[in-house]
Amino acid sequence: MALSLMRQDAVDVLTRQHAQIRRGFYRAALPGPGRRRAFERLMRLLAVHEAAEEAHVHPVARRVLASGPALAARRRQEEKEAKELLVGLWHTGPYGKGYLRRLNEVRRAVLAHAAREEREEFAALRRAVGSRRLRLLGAEVRMTQAYAPTRPHRWVNDEATNKLAAPLLGPFDRARDLARQAARRR
Ligand SMILES: [Fe+2]
Ligand SMILES: [Fe+2]
Repeated sequence: MALSLMRQDAVDVLTRQHAQIRRGFYRAALPGPGRRRAFERLMRLLAVHEAAEEAHVHPVARRVLASGPALAARRRQEEKEAKELLVGLWHTGPYGKGYLRRLNEVRRAVLAHAAREEREEFAALRRAVGSRRLRLLGAEVRMTQAYAPTRPHRWVNDEATNKLAAPLLGPFDRARDLARQAARRR
């Protein structure tokens, strides 16, 4: 595995993405022509972030932490609920009716979820898992994010469906993203 991929551990990568997600919600709420780009970047970041957590990080937490099974089940349930809201937001789009209200709803759910991950799960993973293993997990997270789906899919919520969806839906979503970008440039 490339050494550069192992430079950061999973907790560092995901915590930094939580901060990016927080800024992403702020940018996606700003009015003006840049909103679409900010919205699409946020949707993409949320999709790949949660995909990596669901496929790799919660399963490790479930196996190694004493309270792992209950904790992972709660995180998965929160992610499932947030995904329902995200699908609605995706369909509304950045200039649709009720966009800001929906964005705010998703923001509250996602940020509360992220804060619980940091407080309950990431801190415990740091204590329970060695630094080399956490760096390996960080590499898995980053590799998964390179080909994960880039938009919310309602039925993709757990380890198995995320691992299945990445090679199937990932390329499909990315092809659609490119087509949309090309259409906008024309
Ligand atoms: Fe999550
Ligand atoms: Fe997260």
